[in-house]
Amino acid sequence: MKVVVVKNYKELSYRAAQLLASQIIEKKNLVLGLATGNTPIGMYKELIRRHREEGLDFYKVVTFNLDEYYGLSPEHPQSYYFFMWNILFKHINIKKENVHLLNGVTENIDKECKQYENLIQKSGGIDLQILGIGDNGHIGFNEPDISLDTRTHLVNLTAKTIRANSRFFNNAQEVPKQAITMGIGTIMRAKKIILLVNSKRKARVIERTINGPITTKVPATVLQLHNEVTIIVDQEAASQFA
Ligand code: PGA
Repeated sequence: MKVVVVKNYKELSYRAAQLLASQIIEKKNLVLGLATGNTPIGMYKELIRRHREEGLDFYKVVTFNLDEYYGLSPEHPQSYYFFMWNILFKHINIKKENVHLLNGVTENIDKECKQYENLIQKSGGIDLQILGIGDNGHIGFNEPDISLDTRTHLVNLTAKTIRANSRFFNNAQEVPKQAITMGIGTIMRAKKIILLVNSKRKARVIERTINGPITTKVPATVLQLHNEVTIIVDQEAASQFA
């Protein structure tokens, strides 16, 4: 894994946007895997700036988001559908039909998951996957467990994740207890992966991700087995290993 330590969040966002933009310029119909959460917001802002000021063109770009809360409709302000459209998609020239998010209110989870996997495959597979990391080492919503699902599936969120994500809701009770997420295999099949990590809060988990044994207790450690991972990490988060 290539580890790039940067000064702060601003630089992290800039570097990530730079890498992503260069891939879009190289391949106009790039297939992107995208993440939600606080970490990638700065990168999305920088991409919007590049679109507006430098003409970065998303017209042929295809996206697949990592996950969605189970039970939240696209109109729900905390749904990842809502997040992605507000934070990124409505500000760039991406085509609606090229944007893919899991349906959090599907009546048939199995079908929804299979369809998503098929769509990814049909699009030629994910060229570049953007990831954040949870305090507990989850990627997407693949929570620490004795075994990890490889394909897109429904997961029970851990108490730790529900607590961590309650900052986006009025209280922890409002946080959905389940989510649909790409599986570890779905993520690992991406040709390139960029993992973004900032703040002191993530220092321990990213140290374990890079140097620790590969374990399903820290799902991000499986990234050690992928041969095109770039981790962009700010100085605070790198404090345990750099
Ligand atoms: P964060 O979330 O970017 O808001 O820290 C990351 C995650 O839980 O995957």
